[in-house]
Amino acid sequence: MAQPLTVVIFGASGDLTGRKLIPALFNLALKKRLPPEARILGVARSPFTDDAFREQIAAKVKDAFKTSGEPWNDAEWAEFAGRLHYVSADVTKPGGIEPVKNWFAANEGGENGRRVYYLSISPELYPQVSTALGEAGLSKENGGFRRLVIEKPFGHDLATAKELNHTLHKHWQESQLYRIDHYLGKETVQNILIFRFANTLFEPLWNYQYIDHVQITVAETVTVGKRGAYYDGSGVLRDMFQSHLLQVLTLVAMESPARYSADTLRNEKVKVLDSIGIPTFDEACKTVSVGQYAGYRSEPGVPPTTKTPTYAAVKLTIDNARWKNVPFYIRSGKGMKSRYSEVFIQYRCPPHLLFPLPPGETLRCNHMRLVLQPNEGIDLNFQTKVPSVDGVRLQPRDLAFNYKEAYQQKALPEAYERLLLDAMQGDASLFMRSDEIERAWEIMDPIIAASERPEAAQPTEYAVGSQGPACADEMMARDGRAWNPIQ
Ligand code: BG6
Repeated sequence: MAQPLTVVIFGASGDLTGRKLIPALFNLALKKRLPPEARILGVARSPFTDDAFREQIAAKVKDAFKTSGEPWNDAEWAEFAGRLHYVSADVTKPGGIEPVKNWFAANEGGENGRRVYYLSISPELYPQVSTALGEAGLSKENGGFRRLVIEKPFGHDLATAKELNHTLHKHWQESQLYRIDHYLGKETVQNILIFRFANTLFEPLWNYQYIDHVQITVAETVTVGKRGAYYDGSGVLRDMFQSHLLQVLTLVAMESPARYSADTLRNEKVKVLDSIGIPTFDEACKTVSVGQYAGYRSEPGVPPTTKTPTYAAVKLTIDNARWKNVPFYIRSGKGMKSRYSEVFIQYRCPPHLLFPLPPGETLRCNHMRLVLQPNEGIDLNFQTKVPSVDGVRLQPRDLAFNYKEAYQQKALPEAYERLLLDAMQGDASLFMRSDEIERAWEIMDPIIAASERPEAAQPTEYAVGSQGPACADEMMARDGRAWNPIQ
């Protein structure tokens, strides 16, 4: 018989649990990918019985299925719900972890149970809860693994991230820690590695000799909504750049690891981060453009004088042999034209153009888009001859691959399905190591400081539904380049 396996979710009554985590676990069960012995233990302060917890979570999961257009089946839910359990505990109080410990003593039948603890709680509580687990002996591996999954934000800057790592390491080995960046769980983000290292066509061109620059865009239509109070203390550079955008950048820029393993992969990612020079304060001021969507300062919980950016564009350079003098422009914003994320590779122009262009026209040089969401796919844009016209006329056309067309029966799964399963299976490849996190903060800290300097002007306003602020376009124009428009 398999050893018991329990996913313990701290923050079981929170938004993430109902909207993402339980739907992901239910989906895994529907696909028969959740190990049959896996049980889920919700932990929160509210006093629920198992049945009451199942009932209230069902409503949230149903909503999540409705939003993503997935069919709902009461009988399948009922079967899955049998695996859900609940313990009421206030882990922030002395001895508050006891009910969790008692649940295991009563239900796990021995010491060798395998456990994944998932902290879906406010980040201020990470030190307390992880320490409480450690002090209660619940991080000790007695024949079964004990893993701790931690959501972002992982610190607020380098100093707080280091402090958190230090606290965690008092009771947990680095190999027990699974720091989530849900972007790494997205199929299209993982596909960057497959695209680069499982093909021979593209990799020889993936360097400074052929690539002029790279753009990484994560645009969102959503505004801060009810998250105003939290978001204002963070801003887009902490919320999106330190984590998601830098993670995508590492996959685009890294060298091939010796083999596909968590450590070799993460070693290569750290090397990329190590090759990004830490800008001085003056340099940072020149490499960042920030914006704020019109109306942000009237959002609930947002101070009316705030300078927190909801949009930023940053220029980074990677000082290594592959990427010498190839700028990486990364940008992200809320309240933009559409929800659209891509990696845009701008190839160099042909050194000599044989075909004359009509007066005033310039050549649209080759580019490639790796569209991460929503219309996931890859397209390569190149020149073609327009047929049946006088002389030679050029027109760019796309060679396109679309995920949904190619894999019709297989909807792209939610990132959390993959990440939860990997945490249960002990594959940390898609989770961030402490050194990655700290180096990412080291890069972002001066850029954030530049954007937050007291004498800085108010971020440039941009209209909701637009391409972002004019200052970001000006930043590109200064380099003689332009953003690929958000589709
Ligand atoms: C989260 C950020 O990490 O990612 C949010 O905190 C953001 O502000 C979200 O909206 C974007 O994720 P996705 O998967 O919707 O692109």
